[in-house]
Amino acid sequence: MKQIKIIGTGSYLPEKILTNKDLEKMVDTTDEWITKRSGIKERHIAADNQATSDLGLEAAKRAIENAKIDKNTIDCIIFGTVTPDTLFPSTAIYVQKALGLAGVPAFDISAACSGFIYGLAIAQGFINNGSHKRILVLGGETLSKVTNWEDRATCVLFGDGVGAAVVEESNDDSGIVSIYLGGDGNMSNLLYQPAGGSRIPATEESVKNKLHTIHMEGNEVYKHAVNAMAEAAKRALEMAGMTGEDITYFIPHQANIRIIETTAKFVNVPMEKVFVNIDRTANTSAGTIPTALDEMNRKGMLKKGDIILIDAFGAGFSWGAAVIRW
Ligand code: COA
Repeated sequence: MKQIKIIGTGSYLPEKILTNKDLEKMVDTTDEWITKRSGIKERHIAADNQATSDLGLEAAKRAIENAKIDKNTIDCIIFGTVTPDTLFPSTAIYVQKALGLAGVPAFDISAACSGFIYGLAIAQGFINNGSHKRILVLGGETLSKVTNWEDRATCVLFGDGVGAAVVEESNDDSGIVSIYLGGDGNMSNLLYQPAGGSRIPATEESVKNKLHTIHMEGNEVYKHAVNAMAEAAKRALEMAGMTGEDITYFIPHQANIRIIETTAKFVNVPMEKVFVNIDRTANTSAGTIPTALDEMNRKGMLKKGDIILIDAFGAGFSWGAAVIRW
């Protein structure tokens, strides 16, 4: 099996910042409640004229620049998102067009918060079967566009942002050592956007009832998130023949600081090794891991040989984890 590695990262968070204090003026909530229950202080919000592919394009350009490659050598684009520009065609195809890469296959994956890790797994498969050599994998959202801004139980938790990575076959021992993916559709109604698909097409009624926004049973999702993230991390580490002690950095999905802390404890990684930016970004779904990875990369935190564990959980439910040797 060929090992694939990340040769460049990029990310883009929209300029506008919405703080907990701002939210206090919109719904019955407090900065204290949001901070204590979730760890979030602020989130980035896309402008009215910014769709997910616009954020993706910026992240992609930065990843290409960081990889120091000619963009024309990219031969596939995969975008993990549940807030596509349009239901069809894909968001990836809009990025392809904007990059001037007509002819290159480009498609989305709907795996919610696990979308980036699913994307890496698909890229690994494509590079291994020889069909593609250099793949742009993106993950991220404009969740603000599907948020019910009158529902305090959900609107305080999410944000916008996209991250990207360029991957290709590794020429040394660095790269993705293991990837584990999982899913369970039995609890799909605990976190979903009910309308807009073929089950409930858009009607005046569906819009009036805000069925085109995020619906979530937070408490239930919380319990499953903790278990699935712990299990995914354990499986990815086992597949890599490693334990928590081998980890240089743990980058968990940024949904709730309490979920992050519990998962870190389970995998036996001290909090000093856990990357946390949820206070500044909130939950950007498929965007959390690639934007975190890019932030760490740009800050010079990642050194050759570092062992990084990434781990995500989201709607579906879907989950996944991977061990990367930088
Ligand atoms: N501000 C103030 N109070 C709020 C609130 C808000 N924004 N949202 C909910 N509340 C209230 C509830 O109405 C409830 O009041 P009650 O006790 O009078 O009924 C109380 O706070 C406690 O709510 P609860 O839902 O039990 O809080 P919690 O400690 O479980 O935290 C979440 C709520 C959503 C932060 C937490 O369940 C969570 O993070 N779940 C997972 C979400 C997630 O990760 N989703 C994405 C997965 S990728």
